[in-house]
Amino acid sequence: MTGTTIGPMAALKILVIPGSLRSGSLNAKLAAAAVDELVRAEVDVIKISLGDFPLPIYDGDIESHGVPKQAVNLKRMISAHHGVLIVTPEYNASLPPLVKNAIDWVSRVQDAHEARGQVFRTVPFAIAAASGGKLGGARGLQALRLVLSACRALVIPNQLALSFANEAYDEMDRLKHPDDIAALQAMVRQLVEVAQQMK
Ligand SMILES: Cc1cc2nc3c(=O)[nH]c(=O)nc-3n(C[C@H](O)[C@H](O)[C@H](O)COP(=O)(O)O)c2cc1C
Repeated sequence: MTGTTIGPMAALKILVIPGSLRSGSLNAKLAAAAVDELVRAEVDVIKISLGDFPLPIYDGDIESHGVPKQAVNLKRMISAHHGVLIVTPEYNASLPPLVKNAIDWVSRVQDAHEARGQVFRTVPFAIAAASGGKLGGARGLQALRLVLSACRALVIPNQLALSFANEAYDEMDRLKHPDDIAALQAMVRQLVEVAQQMK
């Protein structure tokens, strides 16, 4: 596992999952900005890369031989936390296959004494996107919200669709615009509150 542990040890643990593996990813930058905010909120944060959980495209024939170990690992990573933030690009007005496939596989995991896909019902999710366009990936977030809701996850109302993301960061990759910072902070605050309540 190469996920980075950041921030002071605290009771509340939040998992941050960027939905892009691309170097220089606008969404990875937003995920890093969210990590900074979560650290400021004094929660324990882990940011992982889905590249560390390589999964084949879902295929029932593969599943008939057992759900891949990496899907089980990802599910357990989620269930070891009190809340999850997914920060993902929008591809053709929807969520990228990397994210959809990870969700599909995790929804098939059934650990001992659990229902299949139970993990989605145990922790709240927050969702965010960054895009160079003016909608900021809002349509992708709509799709992601629908998918997570179909898994019966609680997706918090506050979200962030960062528009014109090519211009949104300073040279240190921090968000430049007060409105974007405020939206990120509001989302993080709500995630922490709901995670605390569901703990
Ligand atoms: C297949 C594909 C489809 C895309 N579709 C959209 C789209 O529907 N809306 C949008 O705002 N950007 C779209 N983009 C542009 C992405 O938002 C842009 O490449 C972004 O930088 C990707 O996120 P990343 O920087 O985190 O990798 C698309 C990009 C790709 C590769």
